[in-house]
Amino acid sequence: TGDVAYDPGFMNTANTKSAITYIDGDEGILRYRGYPIEQLAEHSTYLEVAYLLINGELPTTGQLDNFVSSVERRTLLDERFKQLFDGFPRNAHPMRVMQAGVSALSTFYQDSLDPFDEDQVRLSTYRLLAKIPTMAAYARRVSQGHALMYPDNRLSLIENFLRLTFGFPVEDYIADPIVVEAMEKLLILHADHEQNCSASAVRLVGSAQADLFTSISAGIGALSGPAHGGANAAVMEMLDGIRASGTDPRQFMEKVKNKEKGVRLMGFGHRVYKNYDPRAKIVKKIADDVLERLGVHDERLELAMQLEEIALKDDYFIERKLYPNVDFYTGLIYKAIGFPTDMFTVLFAIGRTPGWIAQWDEMIHDPETKIGRPRQVYIGHTERTYQPMSART
Ligand code: CMC
Repeated sequence: TGDVAYDPGFMNTANTKSAITYIDGDEGILRYRGYPIEQLAEHSTYLEVAYLLINGELPTTGQLDNFVSSVERRTLLDERFKQLFDGFPRNAHPMRVMQAGVSALSTFYQDSLDPFDEDQVRLSTYRLLAKIPTMAAYARRVSQGHALMYPDNRLSLIENFLRLTFGFPVEDYIADPIVVEAMEKLLILHADHEQNCSASAVRLVGSAQADLFTSISAGIGALSGPAHGGANAAVMEMLDGIRASGTDPRQFMEKVKNKEKGVRLMGFGHRVYKNYDPRAKIVKKIADDVLERLGVHDERLELAMQLEEIALKDDYFIERKLYPNVDFYTGLIYKAIGFPTDMFTVLFAIGRTPGWIAQWDEMIHDPETKIGRPRQVYIGHTERTYQPMSART
């Protein structure tokens, strides 16, 4: 391979030093800025974790109040966004609509595009944290043909998002505190995961000194893939598929093990976690709790548990160190709350926004940052001479 290291998928190549998130894949450890994910999920709120990831320290009361109000008063979108959203076909996937919307932020908010101006970056940070949930709700509503509602900034960011998604103008929608609490925890669990595919996309685009909005929209694109954030929807489709076809769970697992048509047990396996995914443990608890408290009985939960039980005892999964990841049970919670499957990855994107911002910010301030530009191992033709059309066969 000449003078370059050949490392498909960057399995062994660190592209950056980072002080944001620590993962020990063998021990199943995940920490944001040194704080264990279990403690943050238990005690913190989504915006407090966003502050922690972006600023490096937990906020004081005054710092948090200021941060929260700076975000919560920016949930409104420019009125012209309505035309943008109206222009998409009704069956457009909400993740794509949201990506287009975030990309368009750089055309509406041109006063916060300079990556090297601290004040502008702070402003675009507030805007992203505030407006991405609004866009997520709008992406859902346009697909339903429902009128868009204006945010009500007396509500918290999450209450507002739930109201914008599920409320109707004629009703006073009040979010169920059980749902708000579950959403806080789920967003925290998704908030960062070091150099995953979408964070790397954000850093790569940002390394060319593209603005923060544009860089984040690249991250949303990466996250939409089924091998990454799209897995939470793929899990639900898998569970629905097994039930619809009447396939026995054991039979399905045989297909997975025989790699029939490349079928995988979605929500299982991880590039880094080879023991267990600590997020999955917390998610399973939330799923049990929320379904019970909301009084939802979903047979897919039992099916998922059956699949997990089979997998954990099976040599195929044991040898390959495949365990449930964060996506295995999240969909069941989202369903219980009332989200359709195509919104699952959008929810992941809302949660991951602080992580993307923190990663981008670290990259911009790092004096060792260089434009991301991998090398290659060329395997094509050596020099050839151009042939006129008449000489080609
Ligand atoms: N079901 C069945 N077999 C699997 C699975 C699975 N879910 N995951 C990996 N394998 C097998 C794979 O076929 C390979 O087998 P062999 O050694 O015989 O070729 C071996 O395990 C190693 O897999 P890999 O694809 O080389 O591992 P990777 O690190 O490149 O992939 C992964 C990691 C997450 C893409 C993969 O495990 C996967 O496709 N899982 C299902 C999709 C999923 O749940 N993704 C969400 C990831 S967590 C949330 C996020 O960060 O976005």
